[in-house]
Amino acid sequence: MKALILSGGKGTRLRPLTYTGAKQLVPVANKPILWYGIERIVAAGITDIGIIISPETGAEVQAKTGDGDRFGARITYILQEQPAGLAHAVQIAQPFLEDAPFIMYLGDNLIQNNLDPFLDTFKAQNLDAMILLRPVANPSAFGVAKVDEKGRVLYLVEKPQVPPSNLALVGIYFFDRSIHHAIACIHPSKRGELEITDAIQCLIDQQKSVEACQLEGWWLDTGKKDDLLSANQIILDSYLVGSVQGQLDDQTQIIGRVEIGEGSKVVNSTIRGPAIIGRDCHIENCFIGPYSSIGDCSILIDADLEHSVILQGAQVVGIHQRIVDSLIGQRAQLTAAHRRPKALRFMIGDDCHVELT
Ligand code: TTP
Repeated sequence: MKALILSGGKGTRLRPLTYTGAKQLVPVANKPILWYGIERIVAAGITDIGIIISPETGAEVQAKTGDGDRFGARITYILQEQPAGLAHAVQIAQPFLEDAPFIMYLGDNLIQNNLDPFLDTFKAQNLDAMILLRPVANPSAFGVAKVDEKGRVLYLVEKPQVPPSNLALVGIYFFDRSIHHAIACIHPSKRGELEITDAIQCLIDQQKSVEACQLEGWWLDTGKKDDLLSANQIILDSYLVGSVQGQLDDQTQIIGRVEIGEGSKVVNSTIRGPAIIGRDCHIENCFIGPYSSIGDCSILIDADLEHSVILQGAQVVGIHQRIVDSLIGQRAQLTAAHRRPKALRFMIGDDCHVELT
């Protein structure tokens, strides 16, 4: 069994962060989203992993993630010249996958469950394909499946206007080699991509065994800001243990589960967990509230924030209004010279969102 993780794509919904970096490397609780997927796959006993990368962000993904040693895996990087669709990614990965059955995992997805039970079902039933489904409130935004009472998949539709069910396709799929023949039979969709839903539909039409399992735990597709903040909240809630390695002064108060990395200094501040502060940060006269993740080498002085993700090297200085539900990019600077600024001066990149509430 092998695994194929998709870490290419355009990432348009997470602009402007994705102009300069891979969306799969955006951190959740200070760890790249992509790494959660790798860890889940390795925990299920699969160590031969291919990662699809794009020409724009591939080098960064590769440099950060490495050859797999840190995960106890062997990673092969596969360059996809164009984001021509999920099925296209499988097609170009065929020399890596060979005839092996494999898990396909979208690199910006996070799930609560372990993969083992699904993998066991897939193997035990000798299926050609198995998809994971999750009931959602807005099925029109997803690939949607119609299944019979035994869990057999009847058909799939991509982003339907009138959804046949509320069961969305989670970005984790199990395939045996027959998917390669199915992909060879499909054509690009209206949006110009080779769709994996079309390839699975082709398997269904050929009477292959395609089944679905329902995911009980949470599933997060971190492609948008609010999803990313929810992922950050859930991961901090579920997994943060809390450990302080940085330096705190006597005026600083730590409440609840808080992690502070080596080399960080916290002065006259209150930090209420669950919250994580990376390495080599400087935090002074701040309130850092629950569900905040502060990346390495960030500087926060006279600031008040909660439920926010601050990326590496960012600076927030002199902002007395509470910052909430925010995602602040790497090296971004948010500063105020006076306690009650009379004017606001911005340099805001393309596709940024600033909301003064
Ligand atoms: P999507 O989120 O569907 O697409 P995208 O990354 O282009 O994002 P957006 O809609 O915001 O523009 O992709 C799901 C995952 O699959 C994501 O990790 C990127 C990856 N992917 C590829 O590796 N190759 C592809 O051709 C496509 C379409 C996606």
